[in-house]
Amino acid sequence: MGMIGGGPGSFIGPVHRLAAELDREIELVAGAFSSDAARSREAGVSYGIDKARAYPSLDAMFAAEAERDDAIDFVSIVSPNHHHLPAARAALVAGVPVMTDKPLTGDLDEAGELAALVAGAGLPFGVTYTYSGYPLVREARERVAGGELGTIRKVVVEYPQGWLAGEANGKQAEWRLDPARAGLGGCIGDIGVHAFHLAEFITGETVSEIFADLGSVVPGRVLDDDCSILMRFANGARGVLLASQIEVGELNGLRIRVYGDRAGLLWKQEEPNSLLVQHIDGRAELVRAGTAQLGPAAASRTRTPGGHPEGYLEAFANLYRDFAAQLRGESAPLLPGIEAGVRGMTFIATAVAASRGRAGWVPLAA
Ligand SMILES: NC(=O)c1ccc[n+]([C@@H]2O[C@H](COP(=O)([O-])OP(=O)(O)OC[C@H]3O[C@@H](n4cnc5c(N)ncnc54)[C@H](O)[C@@H]3O)[C@@H](O)[C@H]2O)c1
Repeated sequence: MGMIGGGPGSFIGPVHRLAAELDREIELVAGAFSSDAARSREAGVSYGIDKARAYPSLDAMFAAEAERDDAIDFVSIVSPNHHHLPAARAALVAGVPVMTDKPLTGDLDEAGELAALVAGAGLPFGVTYTYSGYPLVREARERVAGGELGTIRKVVVEYPQGWLAGEANGKQAEWRLDPARAGLGGCIGDIGVHAFHLAEFITGETVSEIFADLGSVVPGRVLDDDCSILMRFANGARGVLLASQIEVGELNGLRIRVYGDRAGLLWKQEEPNSLLVQHIDGRAELVRAGTAQLGPAAASRTRTPGGHPEGYLEAFANLYRDFAAQLRGESAPLLPGIEAGVRGMTFIATAVAASRGRAGWVPLAA
């Protein structure tokens, strides 16, 4: 694997490295870790890779790797949002498959361009919507698909954070508040899109209309930092999506409730090894990771016995396990691909435009 981004002091690059290597199918061997050559070299040392393979730029990496017998099999893109398209384009043109972090691109036009590039290249392409990698999320999806909840009627998904509630400092905050690097969404692109993907991933239903109210609560902010969105699904279900980065004290409180006409379920990211299923007759089942309660989708993506918790790193690792399968030519249908990436960008672009224009209910293009 080659990495793009993930330089010194970065957040998600080291997470991807640990997760990708967890199952020993993938190894980080190269990277263009920073736009600064010295910092890319520094990152290469910290990751313990061959110094010659910590490249000063994307072009240098793809040119040099193309000459090697042991060239990288794919790249992982973990640079800021505005850089996802140029990085993915360079990889696909070089014939290298791509795993990229979300949001897919900076805006919807870029997403369309990338979708065309992916279609033309015909190479594996994955998007790390992290939460779809959790075993209990896959269990929830399987139970909904199997009819346990009945017809889906209501979805409530929220992703509260508080780390941007005040004056924000530091590398991670800096680019996220800058439209030139974050793209057209603030909170909605950073975490709202995770909540949106999770809602459609678990229910298997499609959001067809939204009513979005996005705020830039902290004075001086251009991009949104607080999002309230009503949703209507194509099957008639209704939903609420709340995402915020100004909810003081909240860490990563992503949680989702889904209600059908026979049962409802609850999953929380900060307690990810349990799933609560509540039936219309009052019976409640606490489904626990690492037990015989799990169906095949979750059981095949669980590594430890019940009570030995798995979490964020393992969820990412599950996405990389899926991607490794795709590289071998096997099917891994639960890994989000380019369609899920474009879908997320459609959601972001539609919500931002509708909120700015106070447009009320607007269709969400399929
Ligand atoms: N899936 C998730 O749960 C999750 C969590 C956090 C971040 N992310 C996504 O990951 C990406 C990175 O976020 P982060 O918090 O790690 O950011 P960060 O600021 O911590 O790290 C970004 C890294 O990219 C490098 N970079 C910038 N421009 C570059 C270029 N031109 N070439 C090579 N490297 C370059 C920077 O030097 C830095 O090392 C974003 O797209 C973000 O949305 C996803």
